[in-house]
Amino acid sequence: MKIGIGNDHSALELKAEIIEFLKEKGHEVVDFGTKSSESCDYPKYGEAVGRAVAAKEVDCGILICGTGLGISLAANKVKGVRAAVCSEPFTAKMSRAHNNCNVLAFGARVVGAELAKMIVEVWLDTEFEGGRHQRRVDMIMDIENGEE
Ligand code: RB5
Repeated sequence: MKIGIGNDHSALELKAEIIEFLKEKGHEVVDFGTKSSESCDYPKYGEAVGRAVAAKEVDCGILICGTGLGISLAANKVKGVRAAVCSEPFTAKMSRAHNNCNVLAFGARVVGAELAKMIVEVWLDTEFEGGRHQRRVDMIMDIENGEE
């Protein structure tokens, strides 16, 4: 898979570990930054990954800030993005199986590297179940499209 990754200053080290993990698993990774430890504004990186996912330049996205919250909120403002903050594997699995999320977010100040890798692995390995869940995801996207 081609995976876009983005982060703020709080997540530089964790991002490096996740990139290595993804590459070991045979994925291609596009790093949208930040690549610096200087304090920065997470919306920029959430938006960049969100836009790449929406434009299908990458298959999916992974975002990391302190909590995963701010950067996922920014990505979710991009039309077509469904980003979920997941701090444990069960939510990560369900965010794919039921919500067909195309962006995974988590917090470098919340999860350790090994737990983050478990979250990433289960998220990438889980398929969307479709069926009744497709209708519900469509309803979410209708809100975004301004339809009732
Ligand atoms: C940065 O200090 C912090 O606010 C950011 O990483 C993130 O947690 C925001 O949601």
